[in-house]
Amino acid sequence: MEVIIKQNAEAGSHAAAAAVARLIREQPDAVLGLATGSTPLILYKELIRMHREEGLDFSRVTTFNLDEYVGLPAGHEQSYHRFMQENFFCHINIKPENVHIPDGMTTDVPAFCADYEQAIAEAGGIDLQVLGIGSDGHVGFNEPTSSFASRTRIKTLTRQTVADNARFFNGDESKVPHHCITMGIGTIMDARMVLMLAFGGNKAEAVAAMVEGPVAAVMPASILQHHPCAKVFVDEPAAERLKLADYYRWIYDNKPGWQKDC
Ligand code: F6R
Repeated sequence: MEVIIKQNAEAGSHAAAAAVARLIREQPDAVLGLATGSTPLILYKELIRMHREEGLDFSRVTTFNLDEYVGLPAGHEQSYHRFMQENFFCHINIKPENVHIPDGMTTDVPAFCADYEQAIAEAGGIDLQVLGIGSDGHVGFNEPTSSFASRTRIKTLTRQTVADNARFFNGDESKVPHHCITMGIGTIMDARMVLMLAFGGNKAEAVAAMVEGPVAAVMPASILQHHPCAKVFVDEPAAERLKLADYYRWIYDNKPGWQKDC
């Protein structure tokens, strides 16, 4: 795991965006795994800016989103379909047929999930997966005790996640769906590169457990310690509980020039 501590969320997001852009420039038909929520918003804004001002080309890029709420149609204000359209896809030149997001309205969840896995495999696997972390340590919606071998499937959100996400539903927890379809931890771990972003003091505890705690299913994000190419972008508040923060800064500051891709 490479831990990159930046002063604020903007600097962390821009560093992550540089890594995404570099991949797309080197490999125009890259397959991206994408996340929703508050965390990647600045990253998407920066990629949109790079598209407009620097010609970053998404025309051959394929995307797979991590998750979607069960029971929310694509057009629902809080669906992740709508989130992705409004915050990213409608501002870039991605082809609609190259965009994949789990269908929260499917009538056959197991068949849909198997097809989603199949589509990822047929696209050649995910080159770069963007992740955020839940305050309870979830990645995607793989809540604590999710199997590290899990694939795309239905999951039940924890009460903590329902409470955390109520802010998107006018603070009304009763409106937050309790189920979602999410890529599994095994699916996420198959991505060739993982960019985890975490900003703000409310993520500090989860970040410390993910990076420096034991690898355990009760802290799903800790499995990233086993990923061969995982970069963790944090701001100062999210880095607050990291015991080895100075060491991570030292490593980053002393990276050889050829390695400084973000
Ligand atoms: C979103 C997702 C979740 C979020 C996590 C953090 O697609 O899979 O794991 O990344 O809940 O959410 P925010 O960024 O809103 O704090």
